[in-house]
Amino acid sequence: MVVSLHLQVTSFAFFVLILCLYCSNIVYNVVAMKSEVVDVSDFGAVGDGTADSSKAWNFVCSREIENGVRVIFVPENQTFLLHPVTFNGPCKAKEIKFLIMGRIISPVSPKTWEGLDQAKWLTFYKVSGLKIKGSGEINGRGWGWWNQSCRDHPRLEGCTSLAPTAMIFESCKTSSLSQVRLINSSQTHVLIRGTDGFIVDHVKITAPETSPNTDGIHISSASNIFIRNSIIGTGDDCVSIGDHTTNIHISHVKCGPGHGISIGSLGRSGNFVQVQNIRVNTVTFKGTTNGARIKTWQVGKGYVRGVMFENLFFNSVKNPIIIDQNYCNVRGACKELETGVQIRDVVYRNLWGTSSTEVAITLNCSRSVSCTGLLLQSIMLKSSITGKNVRSSCINAHGAAIGVVQPAPCF
Ligand SMILES: *[C@@H]1O[C@H](CO)[C@@H](O)[C@H](O)[C@H]1NC(C)=O
Ligand SMILES: *[C@@H]1O[C@H](CO)[C@@H](O)[C@H](O)[C@H]1NC(C)=O
Ligand SMILES: *[C@@H]1O[C@H](CO)[C@@H](O)[C@H](O)[C@H]1NC(C)=O
Ligand SMILES: *[C@@H]1O[C@H](CO)[C@@H](O)[C@H](O)[C@H]1NC(C)=O
Repeated sequence: MVVSLHLQVTSFAFFVLILCLYCSNIVYNVVAMKSEVVDVSDFGAVGDGTADSSKAWNFVCSREIENGVRVIFVPENQTFLLHPVTFNGPCKAKEIKFLIMGRIISPVSPKTWEGLDQAKWLTFYKVSGLKIKGSGEINGRGWGWWNQSCRDHPRLEGCTSLAPTAMIFESCKTSSLSQVRLINSSQTHVLIRGTDGFIVDHVKITAPETSPNTDGIHISSASNIFIRNSIIGTGDDCVSIGDHTTNIHISHVKCGPGHGISIGSLGRSGNFVQVQNIRVNTVTFKGTTNGARIKTWQVGKGYVRGVMFENLFFNSVKNPIIIDQNYCNVRGACKELETGVQIRDVVYRNLWGTSSTEVAITLNCSRSVSCTGLLLQSIMLKSSITGKNVRSSCINAHGAAIGVVQPAPCF
């Protein structure tokens, strides 16, 4: 059954209504929910096609709740079409839970997005204690955007550089996203920004290998972020970590296809970046372009320090280990500069598997700002092509090697 709710207000109010109908089935918060008799009009929602749903949302979240928890339920076996919507906090409820068992789909093509915000689809802003879970699916139906992206079709008239990010969590403290499946976002699937304390757990993110800019998860200006037990395969980075990030932990992730896990690109606009304490542990890369990558723009300033890549397995990866401090849109087109983001104290420990290119370890640092304190320990990389050898390549990279390191380091 497809329930098409074209109005933001109606769709939101509908969730609330459904929540009410199902509240007695919800395992948790039964007491609080029983006392909630919710009617669409209770939320000031008017299905006239012009009312703003954020008002209804604000109304919901400003209502006091007995035990401080509110649950919004999306029932299984149903499909809801949602136009872009922003859930604006802060909310009075201590916790807001979305239990997504059904499917949520977006408008399908750029045409149907006309007049809508084309940069985002589902946005959660300043909602602290947000918990989204359930076995449901969030489908961005991005194909209508991919085939007119300027990156892939630069000569196409009316090509778009912008496309909606599926889920944006902005300033959502102590929140989490778990179990759901995210599919075919027109751009990044999950963006975590300006946030302290966020957990992504048991999530599956899928988009075709050829889809442009469909990062799995992008993190920027954030701290204490955990991504674990997840499967990510898209047309871009499985996870990318941007400027101003601290304490980012990625573990037990299966990555591929896609571009791998990337710290960067950093410092694009010549800004000062601070990236510290990043841990990537127990990740499998399959058929990705990169594995453990750090990439910075030459114009950038600031630092990346305290990075640990540990227990990574590569299956036919183009650049299993790569530092690219001369990152540039068009390879070779940017002149070498005096500036650069300093990369310091990076540990690569217990990494093994196969490289699909000859250079399995690339430590390509800036000639003016060297990489220091790189540690290679217990590394065993072979070619994925029988009979071929692999090697390391360094520019201005400094560090040490402990134990078996193959290919031999080039410090
Ligand atoms: C959803 O569909 C499945 C399979 O058809 C069925 O077993 C299940 O009872 C349905 N759930 C609801 C809530 O209708
Ligand atoms: C892109 O794909 C959609 C859906 O398959 C199709 O309707 C549209 O014509 C395509 N656009 C271009 C420019 O190829
Ligand atoms: C995702 O997009 C691809 C390419 O258009 C399509 O083949 C696939 O069926 C889509 N998946 C879902 C679940 O919609
Ligand atoms: C390393 O950086 C230099 C200078 O930008 C560039 O010419 C070269 O292609 C890079 N090598 C790799 C393997 O990325």
